Amino acid sequence: MIIAVDGPTASGKGTIASAIAAHFGLPHLDTGLLYRAVGRQVQLAGADPDDAGDALAAADFPDTLLTDPELRSEAIGGFASRISIHPGVRAALLDRQRAFAQADGGAVLDGRDIGTVICPAADVKLFVTASLDARTDRRFAEMQSQGREVTREEVHAQIGRRDARDMGRKDAPLKPAPDAYVLDTTALDKDASIAAAIEIVASAVRET
Ligand code: DC
Repeated sequence: MIIAVDGPTASGKGTIASAIAAHFGLPHLDTGLLYRAVGRQVQLAGADPDDAGDALAAADFPDTLLTDPELRSEAIGGFASRISIHPGVRAALLDRQRAFAQADGGAVLDGRDIGTVICPAADVKLFVTASLDARTDRRFAEMQSQGREVTREEVHAQIGRRDARDMGRKDAPLKPAPDAYVLDTTALDKDASIAAAIEIVASAVRET
């Protein structure tokens, strides 16, 4: 059973994907981490994330980079979004994602193009979304709780830029697959979002 979970930044897709994986006893791959590792490698090399050649060279990152705590930072999220527009980078990360999806017993993958490009034949596709304001509030609260000096306006602008880049790129833009279940979490808290997602997957599985 392959479960694809896609959605924009701060939609809750990562939390939802890991809860689905735990509930159904499946391994989970956060594919954003692969793009973040490429972004981090570009940064460490002092290279240009907007240059296709520089970004492609960084796609050959060492596995040890996947545990770098810096990967979770907003700065690296921005680098990841920038290197992810290059088709060569996307192609270089494809086999690794497909191999994970093909694991015996199934897998949960979350990202931007899992249901559309990486696993178009996934058994269940979820597209998790929420309004820009709701996502801004969540990310802002999270950053404040970490003691970060940032204004709500800055977070709003940052997320808006990331949405525009992820949805506007030519290769594998962020969009729901035609057969995806769209879960809007704007009015749902974390537990309600997880419960709704598990119910969608469980009923899709019952129907097959
Ligand atoms: O999900 P995330 O915030 O960790 O992803 C960081 C960036 O990586 C995102 O802005 C775009 C890119 N990405 C992608 O293009 N395709 C994916 N499947 C996952 C992430």
